[in-house]
Amino acid sequence: MIHSALINVMVKAARRAGRSLKRDLGEIENLQVSLKGPANFVSAADRRAEDILYEELNKARPGYGFIGEEGGTREGSDKTNTWIVDPLDGTTNFLHGIPQFAISIGLQREGTMIAGVIYNPANDELYIAERGKGAFLNDTRLRVAARKKLNDCVIACGLPHIGRGDHELARREMAELQPRVAGLRRFGAASLDLAFVAAGRLDGYWERNLKPWDIAAGLIMVREAGGTVSGIEGHDNALESGNVVCGNETIQTELVKILKPL
Ligand code: IPD
Ligand code: CA
Ligand code: CA
Repeated sequence: MIHSALINVMVKAARRAGRSLKRDLGEIENLQVSLKGPANFVSAADRRAEDILYEELNKARPGYGFIGEEGGTREGSDKTNTWIVDPLDGTTNFLHGIPQFAISIGLQREGTMIAGVIYNPANDELYIAERGKGAFLNDTRLRVAARKKLNDCVIACGLPHIGRGDHELARREMAELQPRVAGLRRFGAASLDLAFVAAGRLDGYWERNLKPWDIAAGLIMVREAGGTVSGIEGHDNALESGNVVCGNETIQTELVKILKPL
């Protein structure tokens, strides 16, 4: 399948960083048995992946700004284009050898997301989206699921872990949703949750308190697959607010109706 030069740049970077993470995942499986665990090793893997992404993206598009989870913001001479990058989304999964993690690369131009690539090197699933050109998983065109009744739907969420977020609020959300849906899931990598909605595997997804690098690529993925994304209040401010609700238009609306008043 032929993609634009821009997408090719992003895919090349994602695949190179992916090879690095995949090698490191092999090591981690050995480190699980050590008492100290692989935590330090994972931080190093994370940084290595971000260095590769910065090097590749900056080589191909010098001057673009770069916001990465690990290295923070690097201003570019070109103020209109900014990469928004999570070198390893799903760190906890990675740390435990669970193959649900991804590299997430978004490109924002003049405040609008125009391209996204999400790559899980563990199963070689590559998600691509470009504004106005659709979303793809390994060259197959993506479309969000069509289900219209919440009680037929499988919905993913995020759950705040120890020391983070509002646990009580998360429990209220679960209590509201649990009896109304076919299944609730918590996979642990926001970029892939969004990619799964784009792929029609999940009917919907919501999570609060995310960072731009968790969702930049995923937001355009869902939109280009025909889905609707908003913040918890239903406004078009997911990237800015860090709160995401998505699905097809009907399911996104249903979810907002339930989550907004909580
Ligand atoms: C995390 C994952 C997780 C979400 C967290 C994020 P990280 O990103 O996306 O699914 O629930 O809020 O911080 O730390 O693994 O890059
Ligand atoms: Ca992340
Ligand atoms: Ca990360």
